[in-house]
Formats: sequence, C-alpha cells, structure tokens
Amino acid sequence: MTNILAIESSCDETSAAVISNGQIRSNIVATQVIHQKYGGVVPELASRAHQQHILPVVEKALEDAKISKKDLNAIAFTRGPGLLGALLVGASFAKALALGLDIPLIEVHHMQAHVLAHFIEEPRPSFPFLCLTVSGGHTQIVLIRSALDMEIIGETQDDAVGEAFDKTAKLLGLPYPGGPLVDKYAQLGDPLAFPFPMSEMPALNYSFSGIKTSILYFLQEKVKNNPDFVIENLNDICASVQYTLIKMLLQKLRKAAKQTGISEIAIAGGVSANSGLRKALHELGAKEGWKVYIPRFEYCTDNAAMIAMAAHFKYENEDFCEQTVSPLPRMDF
Ligand code: KG4
Ligand code: ZN
Repeated sequence: MTNILAIESSCDETSAAVISNGQIRSNIVATQVIHQKYGGVVPELASRAHQQHILPVVEKALEDAKISKKDLNAIAFTRGPGLLGALLVGASFAKALALGLDIPLIEVHHMQAHVLAHFIEEPRPSFPFLCLTVSGGHTQIVLIRSALDMEIIGETQDDAVGEAFDKTAKLLGLPYPGGPLVDKYAQLGDPLAFPFPMSEMPALNYSFSGIKTSILYFLQEKVKNNPDFVIENLNDICASVQYTLIKMLLQKLRKAAKQTGISEIAIAGGVSANSGLRKALHELGAKEGWKVYIPRFEYCTDNAAMIAMAAHFKYENEDFCEQTVSPLPRMDF
C-alpha cells in the first residue's frame, strides 16, 4: 500500500489529503475567512493563516484516513503557481515532514492538479482530452496527452475569468469572493437583459480585462440616472455578465475541439463550480457530440485531494524532488 500525504497552500485555502494506491482517503479544507473583510486575499494574512491551520489540518487528514505518519511513503506539496508566502508555509511543512520521516518529497503544479482532479473518481476522461481550466488566477485550454504530459494551447492574455467574476461582484458591492454570488443572482435573472461586448483574441487565447471596464462604464452611466439601478437590476446584471463570460469561454473551447479533433472535454478550477457554465457545457457537449467531464463541487475549488492525485501519478513515475526545491509564484508546465 502506498500512502501519500498532500498539502495545498497556494492561496486562501489550507488543505491536506491522503491518497492510498490512487484512492483518496481524506481531504480536509480550511478556508480563510479573514480576507472577506478586505474584499480580496491579503497575501500576508494568508501566510499567517496557513501557519495557524496547517498542523490541525494535516492531523485531521491523517486521522480521517486512519493512517499514522509512519505509514506514509511520500509527502507532496503545491510548488506553484500561487502567493509566495502562502506556498512557503506548505513547502516548508512538507519538506520538514519528509526529512523527519526520511521519505521522498513530491512537488506538484497547482494548475496541473486542477486538471488531474478528474481522476479522483469515475467517470475519468480518456487521453487525449481537453480541459478548460478556469480559476481566480488562470484561464487556460490544456491539451492532456497523459497524466504527466500536458500542454497549454490557449490562455488569457490579461485577467483570469475568476477575476472577472470577482471584480464584477466588487463593482456591484458584493462581498469577496464574489464569483459564487454572481452565480447565485444570475440564476434569477435574464441573461439577455444587458448586452456586454465580447473581446476578440487571436487563436485560442482570451482577454477578460475589457469586460470589466465596460461593466464599470455601464454601471456609472446607469447609476447617474437611477441611484438604485444596481439594487433593482442585480439579478439581470449578474445573469448578463455571466452569460457573456461563459459565451467567451465556450467559443474558444469549441474552436480548440475542432482544431484538435478531440471530443473528450473537461472543465476544472474554481469557476467550474459555476452553475451556468456547467449547464452551458452540458448543452454544448450534447450538440457537438462531446463526452463532457465536470468535477464534483468540492474538487473544483482549491483542495489537496487534487494535489494528492497528481502526486500519485508522479510517485508511480518515481518523479521526486530535492529538499532544496523552492516554491514558484509563477510556474511553467
Ligand atoms: O481554483 P480556485 O479555488 O483558486 C484559484 O486557484 O484561483 O478558484 C477561485 C475562483 C474565484 O475567482 C471564485 O470567485 C471563483 O473561482 N468561483 C466561482 C464560483 N465558485 C468559485 N466563479 C463563478 N461561479 C462560481 N460558482
Ligand atoms: Zn486553484
């Protein structure tokens, strides 16, 4: 039996998971609520909260998995991308534990782990497949040839789509993180109420910074004539913005599927929890004849189970790293 403990600390979730022979045995996530007060993640506060949470989270993950430290065969951690101070907490903890137990250390790429979350449970995609990876920091179309061979074939040239959701929410006066709230109000609104322009980017790339500016100007104009405009039209504004963002996402995904001839299509990352995106992908998939893969909600947003899954594949490949490895705020595939 191979047991791996995995740690995720790239942003505002402190998480630990145990995987045994490719099966997730536990997955504990401590979400840092402190950032809500500030309307966004404060890096210094994130590092401090990781320091506070990491030991209890790891202990609970081991307890839930009914595994003691001496039964572990490797320790995995998120090397990047993410906030440096936050990554350092997880990396240092993982290194110390691996050193103390004299077992291998495995570094994991956070975005690759989001993709590999699809292997936690059935149905698992077959290779090659495409994954639209959408989070607070990234928007990528990834071509996955095998668990350890991935290529980014399209990505945002500026903001991530999660940022577009969060910034829209902020403009509407909603608390952080706004993405889930935009989703909630959008379900009650008319997606065609207010048309927003879609940015056109070459190839399979995206741009989400323009829509944020057009929403800002749109709101300024409307509020000038009616100070209650946002309150009176919250559902319709959210539905219209979400509709535009989803349309942009799926247009390029469709293009990527056509270009590559691949019809196994997945989504991953925090924004894949969006109910409108999940529904629209199912509908488009049915029309295009795709096999569509959408993770369970708990595996969409940041979690250590996905880090553990990536570590499982790396362990099988004996892909271990040195104790001197440093966390990377930006990290290539
Ligand atoms: O993957 P994730 O948990 O962290 C990063 O790696 O960034 O993604 C977080 C992002 C945030 O921007 C959050 O607002 C967004 O995912 N998000 C959503 C929803 N749930 C989370 N956006 C839209 N609709 C949702 N239901
Ligand atoms: Zn993430």
